[in-house]
Amino acid sequence: MTPIELPLSALTDDERALVAAAQAVLPNAYAPYSHFHVGAALLFSDGTIHRGANFENVSYGLSLCAETVALASANAAGRLKDVTMIAVAAEGELEAAVTGEFIPPCGRCRQIIAEVANLTGLDIPVLMLARSGDRIRRATISELLPLAFGK
Ligand code: THU
Repeated sequence: MTPIELPLSALTDDERALVAAAQAVLPNAYAPYSHFHVGAALLFSDGTIHRGANFENVSYGLSLCAETVALASANAAGRLKDVTMIAVAAEGELEAAVTGEFIPPCGRCRQIIAEVANLTGLDIPVLMLARSGDRIRRATISELLPLAFGK
């Protein structure tokens, strides 16, 4: 699977629901420092969805990304091996960086997703919602993190 852009209308019902869940969790982001809200939604193999939002603190650098929060929480729920797909949505503007149309997972999140992919044996697809909300970019974790450090 090479990274592609798709309109929401081209997604399956499960994929659309996953993207909508990532958007719906945006108001729960705790981002008083960056004012940049990120939501992540995990699709489990039984069709259920598990969500996370970014969780900042005043140290700035120790803030937790939405993807990491969602996956750590899935782990606590005993569901890490059930993760089949991830969607990411964002809203707000960053002052210190250029933010593009699609918000891709940061390096640490890629490593964490790669760890889960290692556990499941699935090259987990990541759906990145465009800021305009009308289309996604889709890439698998091995495309986002080729030659990953790991087993
Ligand atoms: N952030 C995420 O939650 N996920 C990403 O993939 C990129 C960045 C968060 C971290 C921080 O709270 C805010 O976005 C600004 O960097």
